Amino acid sequence: MGTLDDRVALVTGGRGGVGRAVCARFLDEGATVYAADLDPGGSLPDEDAGASDGLRFVEVDVTSEPSVEAAMATVAAEENRLDIVVNAAGIEIEHTIEQTSLDDWNRIFAVNVTGTFLVSKHALPLLRRTIGDRPGGPAIVNIGSYDGFIADPRLAAYCATKGAVHALTKAMACDHGPEGIRVNAVCPGYVDTPMLQSFFAGGAQTDDDPDASIDSLQQAVRDVHPLRTYGTPTDIANLIHWLASDEARYATGALWVIDGGLSAQVQQMRL
Ligand SMILES: NC(=O)c1ccc[n+]([C@@H]2O[C@H](COP(=O)([O-])OP(=O)(O)OC[C@H]3O[C@@H](n4cnc5c(N)ncnc54)[C@H](O)[C@@H]3O)[C@@H](O)[C@H]2O)c1
Repeated sequence: MGTLDDRVALVTGGRGGVGRAVCARFLDEGATVYAADLDPGGSLPDEDAGASDGLRFVEVDVTSEPSVEAAMATVAAEENRLDIVVNAAGIEIEHTIEQTSLDDWNRIFAVNVTGTFLVSKHALPLLRRTIGDRPGGPAIVNIGSYDGFIADPRLAAYCATKGAVHALTKAMACDHGPEGIRVNAVCPGYVDTPMLQSFFAGGAQTDDDPDASIDSLQQAVRDVHPLRTYGTPTDIANLIHWLASDEARYATGALWVIDGGLSAQVQQMRL
């Protein structure tokens, strides 16, 4: 028996690094899972795309309201209910504000913030159909970041989007708690996904150390963590699973940092 038996979950960015791990964990726990992404490959190469048994793919562009409505219509037609939504679609742009064009600013807000808004908004009617079915009730888990609390260099727009996701999470929890819908945000530090690898690739040559290699940058990142490593997608999926489960019935409106202790330190490294 799984902890999510008979539940229906939709995971945006469900073919990306974190999203895949969430889909896999939810499937293991007995849920019917919709991986919602731009395409079945997501952020990983096609050869890794192998959908697990029982995983359903639904195409969505979270920045487009008609696309989000169409994805929800698919779930409504096939399941007529939704118990869990995980908003894991996200992009990162590695720039200071001076280097950030208005188009890039709007693009990252469209995916990270507007996407979270649109998917949650259009999921609510389906989530309401499961109110009262289980102690944990319907649950939304947004993906924030420790970058929504403290800043990494050259991630200005990204940090701003994550701060917005954190505030939106609390607002949604306040608005929909009284009807029994829980909303939380998981705030990871460094997680080994294609997004992180692209960050390493883009950040290896910094002004401080133009000769830095990706390997030395990765080691520097590991070394600065109190746990001396960065996280895996499964680490993040484990927390998301708990927040979506009945055990988290009293948890809502909270920002759950999971970062190997990185943000517990007084001084951060400079990348
Ligand atoms: N990797 C990290 O170190 C890290 C740290 C903190 C927070 N996060 C957050 O975790 C979430 C997942 O990141 P990840 O590391 O798995 O990234 P990823 O790049 O591996 O996956 C992101 C997925 O989102 C999808 N996506 C992008 N734009 C989309 C759109 N418009 N519509 C639908 N899907 C879209 C991509 O296709 C991709 O599959 C993001 O919100 C990210 O900001 C990641």
